[in-house]
Amino acid sequence: MNYSNILVTKLKMAPEATENGYAIIQLNRPEVMNAINIALMKELVEALDEMEKENDIRCVILTGSEKAFAAGADIKEMADASTVEMLQRDMFSRWDRIRKFKKPIIAAVGGYALGGGCELALTCDIIIASESAKFGQPEISIGVIPGAGGTQRLTRAVGKYKAMEMVLTGTMITAEEAKQWGLVVKVVPNEILLEEAKNLAKTIASKPSVAVQLGKEAILKAFDTTIESGLEFERKNFYMLFSTEDQKEGMRAFVEKRKPKWKGK
Ligand code: CAA
Repeated sequence: MNYSNILVTKLKMAPEATENGYAIIQLNRPEVMNAINIALMKELVEALDEMEKENDIRCVILTGSEKAFAAGADIKEMADASTVEMLQRDMFSRWDRIRKFKKPIIAAVGGYALGGGCELALTCDIIIASESAKFGQPEISIGVIPGAGGTQRLTRAVGKYKAMEMVLTGTMITAEEAKQWGLVVKVVPNEILLEEAKNLAKTIASKPSVAVQLGKEAILKAFDTTIESGLEFERKNFYMLFSTEDQKEGMRAFVEKRKPKWKGK
């Protein structure tokens, strides 16, 4: 597939190999700080659609450049749009597709992650950041509010009061603050951001893939259900894993004091 707004690298897992098994998607509109336009979003979803079907891709890294992960939705593309035009564009249905991607996505954030850029990182499953990363929801300063999940996901991630401050003032936070607030799991020097993301991706890719998928699904369930039905959901996924070969292999390998050999089924 030829893309013009993203760069895709696939490090597929060879049979019997334990390395690799992940893909890197780099947002690539450097002239506009990786602003997310309709074309970029379309390509991103197409790339993910393809990766979802590829068994030897088990984890995806989403990244930008050192200057910007993404500076938000493309303001120039929507500046003159009417409500009806925005409704007809239905740009957020593509964001919903990313939310439903079954494999883990790691956001490796360097530079600005603003507006839709911050929301894109929030849609991912794990966020790591470089020391120069800055997160923010500056939409209020251009007369709108976050539209790609910011008011919901940011609030769930950092709580009501910090989310209010960020969304109502548009103030940016540093990578270190984002880590203190639980948004980011790790802050690393710029030069090793991608290396760290790759190590994380390799670790996830080396785990039994059905368990990884059901683990992600169960954690996401926690965001839209009661504790009672969330626990029930988790339990069913847990029981379901007992029908996989990898569960038998994993537990036998533990008992036999050897390394498990995963089959991904
Ligand atoms: N949309 C379109 N173009 C953008 C952009 C965006 N979100 N962000 C940056 N650009 C463009 C600039 O217009 C500029 O282009 P020109 O060279 O043609 O003028 C180029 O990228 C470089 O940007 P700056 O000159 O502004 O660079 P800077 O270093 O001075 O500032 C910045 C960087 C702080 C990121 C600043 O560009 C900025 O504030 N960007 C907008 C951030 C923003 O408001 N994001 C929210 C968008 S709305 C949204 O995302 C809604 C939603 O919830 C989905």
